[in-house]
Amino acid sequence: MTDQTAPWWTAATAYQIYPRSFQDSNGDGIGDIPGIISRLNHLSDLGVGFVWLSPVFASPMADNGYDISDYRDIAPEFGTLDDMDRLIAEAKGRNIGIVMDLVVNHTSDEHAWFHAACESRDNPMRDFYIWRDPGPDGGLPNDIQSNFGGPAWTFHEPTGQYYFHLFDPKQPDLNWENPRVRAEVYAMMNWWFDRGVAGFRMDVIDLIGKEPDRGITADGPKLHDYLQEMHQETLAHRDVVTVGECWSATPENALLYCGRDRNELSMVFQFSHVMAGWDETLGKWTRKPVALPVLKHSLARWQEVCAEDGWNSLFWGNHDLPRAVSKYGDDSPEHRVDSARCLATALHLMKGTPYIYQGEEIGMTNVVFERIDQFRDVETLNFHRIQTAQGLSTEDFLAGANLNGRDNARTPMQWSDAEHAGFTTGTPWIEVNPNYRQINVASDRASQDSVMARYKALATLRRNDDLIRIGDFVPFDLDHPQIMAYARRLGSQQITVICNLSSQSVTYDVPQDLRLSGVCAFTGRIIDVASQETLAPWEDIVVTG
Ligand code: NOJ
Repeated sequence: MTDQTAPWWTAATAYQIYPRSFQDSNGDGIGDIPGIISRLNHLSDLGVGFVWLSPVFASPMADNGYDISDYRDIAPEFGTLDDMDRLIAEAKGRNIGIVMDLVVNHTSDEHAWFHAACESRDNPMRDFYIWRDPGPDGGLPNDIQSNFGGPAWTFHEPTGQYYFHLFDPKQPDLNWENPRVRAEVYAMMNWWFDRGVAGFRMDVIDLIGKEPDRGITADGPKLHDYLQEMHQETLAHRDVVTVGECWSATPENALLYCGRDRNELSMVFQFSHVMAGWDETLGKWTRKPVALPVLKHSLARWQEVCAEDGWNSLFWGNHDLPRAVSKYGDDSPEHRVDSARCLATALHLMKGTPYIYQGEEIGMTNVVFERIDQFRDVETLNFHRIQTAQGLSTEDFLAGANLNGRDNARTPMQWSDAEHAGFTTGTPWIEVNPNYRQINVASDRASQDSVMARYKALATLRRNDDLIRIGDFVPFDLDHPQIMAYARRLGSQQITVICNLSSQSVTYDVPQDLRLSGVCAFTGRIIDVASQETLAPWEDIVVTG
């Protein structure tokens, strides 16, 4: 049974493609759009409803495309506008929407706007960016730090002022207070909508309301005015999906973005569960195991926030985060498959739109790099420079980068056990994880018990059943150290989900309200959930009745 009134994206499973690492078609070692087109059948086979495509726009690639030099063109290494049109059409033919990445907190310093802005202080485009005179001591205007390390201000010698950048100096921040900037962004969004895109994922969108002079970067006072204006100028009356990347989103402000009467976004990516695994002072560059109760409380809190209004995004990983099975599961040969499947179950049966990050559907793992020259990510390389200059050994830094660094997610997609995992016939831009001979799409496709088979089953359930799509979420035993247990309820229907998220077997006293006689959602077998159940490591019990 499906409810026809809820938006299409509430029944969809999303899939993120990081184009550089997905599929190369021309042997240059870099993934590209024709490569993606050649793999669309994999996505339709999985049951994907829309793809979030990380940036493919023209870019000098200082941050692999999150530094855009022309929003209306495609980077030559990824293909052409014709390729992009073909991707949109071919995906649509398979009922898959293409959601592009809207990177408008900043541009590249090689964007024509920035070139013009640098010409002189009175250039009409100067005010597209954020410029300040040196501070009273002749130095930085203030002490705001960039997310990639170092000051958020870079001095522009020829015009004698600093420009502001919350990321790399090659990513100058746009000045959203300038109505001409906003008009340009909206025109560009409409241009892409007219080409047929199904929506936008909005890069660090919670930063656009910044007020650098007051030290405010995230969640600035005008943020929601801008988002409402954007909605009015671009999204209103279009049947599209939007998801804002909002590291500052909290349960308290979430509905400002995605509440039903707000006219802003469909949903946000919030990161409470991710940051629970970061150290308060050393951030992500050190080991900090996340206790399961902390994770569950965080996920449950967000389910509660969006229970009656708003909508959740559900994700374990993306191109900035470590591999899900390595971070939250157990990537040892003994438990990798079971833990990847169990994590998928635990996440995808909650209420919200689940996002699969490329490779997660086959349980791809973190990579272990032994030398800094194996890394490619600008953030990792910057922090290596900064932290080793402060006295940290490269060895200690590498340990952190191998745990949480962004390159974990960026090693090439493992399609088969052929050379370079079938990703390219050339030399990959970043090394392939050597475990590709065991972990690849071809071998998962051949097995009914594979991680991929589980993801496929979960996408089918969501697409076809309102209980999964809109049923109430009811958590149990949030403080249990190993079990994640919840029910979804709609009318008289219930699905019971019990996951052993640990590498030990666990005997669980099943609460009365989770006991159920019904059908196993994956095997169709009749199951009686009893008052006590012993679950093997990473086993799950999923029963509808
Ligand atoms: C967030 C993106 O996910 C990340 O990859 C990028 O480096 C920054 N925003 C800057 O655009």
